Amino acid sequence: MPVQRDEQELTTYFADAPEDVSLADVDLERLPSHISVIMDGNGRWATRQGMERGQGHIAGIASLRETITACVRLGIDVLSAYAFSTENWKRPQQEVDLLMHLFATTLVKELPLFHQENVRLEFLGDIEALPQKTREVFEEGLSETADHTGMTLALAVNYGARAELARAARLIASKVKEGTLSVDDVDAACVSSHLYTADLPDPELLIRTSGELRLSNYLLWQLAYSEFYITDTLWPDFDRWELLRAIRAFQGRDRRFGGVKA
Ligand code: FPP
Repeated sequence: MPVQRDEQELTTYFADAPEDVSLADVDLERLPSHISVIMDGNGRWATRQGMERGQGHIAGIASLRETITACVRLGIDVLSAYAFSTENWKRPQQEVDLLMHLFATTLVKELPLFHQENVRLEFLGDIEALPQKTREVFEEGLSETADHTGMTLALAVNYGARAELARAARLIASKVKEGTLSVDDVDAACVSSHLYTADLPDPELLIRTSGELRLSNYLLWQLAYSEFYITDTLWPDFDRWELLRAIRAFQGRDRRFGGVKA
C-alpha cells in the first residue's frame, strides 16, 4: 500500500517556493515510488568554501535530512541513498574514520525523526564489515524501525553493485548445489530476490548531484529502466526545491520500457 501523506503538512513544507519551481509543478498522483540519490560533491563543496573535506560530509547530512523529510511529506514509498561504496575504503584513513563516525552519530541523532515520521530503515551493502560501533548502531536502527510502516529509507553503505551481484550468484549457486533451487528457476525475478533490494521496487528516478555522468558501481541491476536526473548542484546545496525539479523532469519523460508509445 502506498505511503499516506498529510496534505496540510505537505503544503506548509513546500511554501515559500523559489521562482522557477513549486509544488504545483509536480503531479502528486504520478510521483516515483522509489527515488534514489547518489550524494556527490561534498568534498568539492568544502574545498570551494575553503574548508576541510569532512566539513562537506557534515553539511551533506543536512541535505540528506531535508531530502528524507521532503520525500516523507510527498508520500514517496522508498528513498535510497549512496552513502559509502566498496571503493570508498581507498580514501585517506582520516576521511574513512570520519565518515564511519558520522554514520553512527547521525543515526543515533536521527532515530527520533525516524520514529516521528514512521520511517523504516534498511541497509544495502555488507554492514558486517563496518567498524563495530557503526555496525552496532546500524543494527539498533534496524530493530528500532522494523515495525514502522511509512517510507523506507535504504542507505547504501559498504555497497558495490558488482559485489552485490557476485553475492547473489553465490547464494543462488549454493541453493542449486544443495537442491533447494532448480537451474531452470534462475530467472531475472530470482536474481532480484537475492539482491540487498529484494523487498524494494526498482528506483524509478535516480538523482546524481555534482554533474558527474557515471553510475559508480551503484545499483547496476536495479537501475535498468530508471530515469536519470543529473544536476550540477553539489550535494550539500541539494534541497527540497532541487528534489521538486528532479521530479518535474521525471514526469516530463516518456517512459517506454523498451516498447513503443501507447
Ligand atoms: C560523496 O562526496 C559523498 C560521500 C562519499 C559521503 C556521503 C555521505 C553523506 C552525505 C553523509 C550521509 C550521512 C549518513 C548518516 C548516511 P565526495 O566526497 O565524493 O565529494 P567530491 O566528489 O566533491 O570529492
